[in-house]
Amino acid sequence: MTPDTAPVPRVHGTVVAERREPHPGIVILSLYAPALSADVRPGQFVMAVPPRGLLPATALGVYEVRDQIASVMIVVAGPRTSELAMLDVGEPLDLLGPLGNGFFLDAVPRTVGIVAGGVGLASVLLAAERCVEKGAKTTLFYGARTAQALVDAELFSGIGCDVVVATEDGSRGHHGYVTDLLGDAAPELLLACGPAPMLRAVAALANGRGIPAQLSLEETFGCGVGACWGCVVPLDRTSAQAPPHEPRPYAHARVCKEGPVFWARELRW
Ligand SMILES: Cc1cc2nc3c(=O)[nH]c(=O)nc-3n(C[C@H](O)[C@H](O)[C@H](O)COP(=O)(O)OP(=O)(O)OC[C@H]3O[C@@H](n4cnc5c(N)ncnc54)[C@H](O)[C@@H]3O)c2cc1C
Ligand code: FES
Repeated sequence: MTPDTAPVPRVHGTVVAERREPHPGIVILSLYAPALSADVRPGQFVMAVPPRGLLPATALGVYEVRDQIASVMIVVAGPRTSELAMLDVGEPLDLLGPLGNGFFLDAVPRTVGIVAGGVGLASVLLAAERCVEKGAKTTLFYGARTAQALVDAELFSGIGCDVVVATEDGSRGHHGYVTDLLGDAAPELLLACGPAPMLRAVAALANGRGIPAQLSLEETFGCGVGACWGCVVPLDRTSAQAPPHEPRPYAHARVCKEGPVFWARELRW
């Protein structure tokens, strides 16, 4: 889809249709959101407005879409996610979106590896579904601190992904980091979302093995809509903002607007 045909982000007044808490501090809200469900692409996000109106909006990946219901996964980190996690069935929630450029999945190769760490899982389910739909053998490499914090692995198995897990305390699967699971794996495409050290390790591995990798960055956002330039990262490419007569060794891109998904080979760490 080109930017010309991409849906325009708008405010969606949604209502909580279902709430589940698979682990203390991890809450999944299913929201009645017909227009958002129809428009969102894998890897896009929304800015969710904490309901009391006292705190700024915060970025959440769109996790799952079923008919007119879109879900978000909230991992409690601070005041905004705490307030959002307390929402119950029937309560309203305003979301601005869909925002950002998601994963580039127009052409999907035969084998895809998806690496997710912690809350990064929230941004990869739709991408996994798209890869499976397109006939790719898709493997989820999923890591968390403990077995209890590994949520919804069965959702991915249910849509046809192979799932391998790692925990930092060794309570389930491989004892160590999720990137250890990649071993000698050489999928034709890697997708990843998770904390910066995990993404850095995936980028090093992918670039070293010549595997194209798309990374969804979890940068801290201010506005989330491209206005404040608070989320820039340096890229190894010519900036749209750089005048042609002033070549620069690297450019900056806004994670919320030009991302959150970037090719590993174009990021400067
Ligand atoms: C594109 C994108 C998608 C995201 N998707 C989700 C999601 O689906 N579910 C979810 O729960 N969270 C998601 N996040 C992270 C979420 O937006 C932040 O955790 C949020 O700022 C927390 O707000 P808070 O007020 O609760 O905590 P804050 O007080 O803002 O932060 C609490 C702690 O988290 C750290 N922190 C803040 N922002 C980030 C960040 N972006 N990445 C890593 N650490 C951070 C702070 O340094 C602090 O230690 C996403 C972020 C981005 C950029
Ligand atoms: S958060 Fe404001 S420009 Fe990205």
